[in-house]
Amino acid sequence: MRNIVILISGSGSNMAAIAQVAEREQWSANLDARVCAVISNRPQAKGLQTAHAMELPTHVVDHQAFADHPAPRTAFDHTLMQAIDAHQPTLVVLAGFMRILTPAFVAHYAGRLINIHPSLLPAFPGLNTHQRAIDAGCRFAGATVHEVTADLDHGPILAQAVVPVLPGDDAHSLGKRVLAQEHLIYPKAIADWLRHITVNP
Ligand code: GRF
Repeated sequence: MRNIVILISGSGSNMAAIAQVAEREQWSANLDARVCAVISNRPQAKGLQTAHAMELPTHVVDHQAFADHPAPRTAFDHTLMQAIDAHQPTLVVLAGFMRILTPAFVAHYAGRLINIHPSLLPAFPGLNTHQRAIDAGCRFAGATVHEVTADLDHGPILAQAVVPVLPGDDAHSLGKRVLAQEHLIYPKAIADWLRHITVNP
């Protein structure tokens, strides 16, 4: 069975969408894959409760616990890697995981680490994507599923969804429209990825 580990920081709606599709489309029988764990860097992440309710195992690796460490990012990533690797994952899915990862982390999961970003990459990497799209006068916005490489928000694109920017939109209304599409493209991109990768790393 191929294991998928999902990393979250907040509401976890993408994680829930992926887990629901995995259940509905019987990934364990059809793709020999399952969501085996949800890991959050925030103990208060709402998504942890959702994961519990869906009977998914959860872990917390609190980045704040490493604040006094001489190399906090390296130490956090090392502990996170141990928590992830305990599940021997075929795929690690970033779903609203709001930490910048070290190059060592990205290299360790090369070829099996993916992310969703709420813009039509390569436009608007980084934060506040919806407001930036509105400010730039974009007529269209969207979301991108991509492989994670050392270059933040720039890895090879696996899937995209486009939505219109409507008159009167603010970041909230545009963000909601984009998020609804994220919930469709992320599970589908993962299923496609699983179909194409036939060998366990
Ligand atoms: C999504 O918009 C995702 O693209 C971005 O953070 C948000 C996470 O939402 N990286 P959720 O935690 O999946 O609800």
